[in-house]
Amino acid sequence: MADMKKIAVLISGGGTNLQALIDKIHGKHGEIAVVLSNKKDAYGLTRAKEAGIEAKYIPPVDENGERLDDEAYAKILEDEIKKRDCALVVLAGYMKIVPKSFVDAFPDRIINIHPALIPSFCGEGYYGLRVHQAVLDYGAKLSGATVHFVNEEADGGPVIAQRAVEVLPDDTPQTLQRRILENVEHVLLPEVVQAILEGRVRREGRTVFVDPSQDGWI
Ligand code: GRF
Repeated sequence: MADMKKIAVLISGGGTNLQALIDKIHGKHGEIAVVLSNKKDAYGLTRAKEAGIEAKYIPPVDENGERLDDEAYAKILEDEIKKRDCALVVLAGYMKIVPKSFVDAFPDRIINIHPALIPSFCGEGYYGLRVHQAVLDYGAKLSGATVHFVNEEADGGPVIAQRAVEVLPDDTPQTLQRRILENVEHVLLPEVVQAILEGRVRREGRTVFVDPSQDGWI
């Protein structure tokens, strides 16, 4: 994979989006150089290792056992990522605050996936099943997923791509979550990653343009 662009993936949990990147991007369009987790038992770490990808748990404490603040923690991530010369940082179910210092270290190179149509049902407190519960409580008829650039505001960076699914009358938070994950997230995230690696994504202010690919992907 010597000539491929490198990607760092940050996770906190199961890592099904990471798995989609392993299956569709790794070794084909780019190289996942490292997977970093703020949770020791994140199953995504196992997925990475099984694919032969370096995977590291970064504990939230320094060598003396003192708790690291958000900036200090993010600096460790930044160093791990820079050491490997990554062209792209993907937050795939990464549940920790990303401070401005980290955003500034990788301008237009950090993306996140959110399981709703931003700017609805996003921001502080909207994670996991809470997102889908809020969609159902509101009575929205469409939900979906959004891939966006990361800025210092939670889920607030420029939108790169979105895709919708219908909310069905008998949906539960769990069924809606699964349908969005399988039908949208696991397709959209690799498409966006490939487009970025191929240099087809450009941003003008808050508006992001994606040049279409030949193969039907964005
Ligand atoms: C996904 O729904 C993603 O949109 C959100 O966190 C979840 C992570 O799931 N940011 P997984 O760990 O990729 O399975």
